[in-house]
Amino acid sequence: MSKLICLCNGVREKELIDTINNVDMATLEIIQNKTGAGTNCGRCINSIEAFLEKQESKHN
Ligand code: FES
Repeated sequence: MSKLICLCNGVREKELIDTINNVDMATLEIIQNKTGAGTNCGRCINSIEAFLEKQESKHN
């Protein structure tokens, strides 16, 4: 099982990556709406943003 990123909502790394890959321009808001990650304590938001940055650098 992939790494747990959002402890509050039980969202794992794989779910975040799949969500980022399945939308044209993933943003923090989209991730929050689709997975629920980062909508509670916000402690995982830095990790989510790191995934988004990795994804952006793939496009450039
Ligand atoms: S760990 Fe993600 S909102 Fe708390």
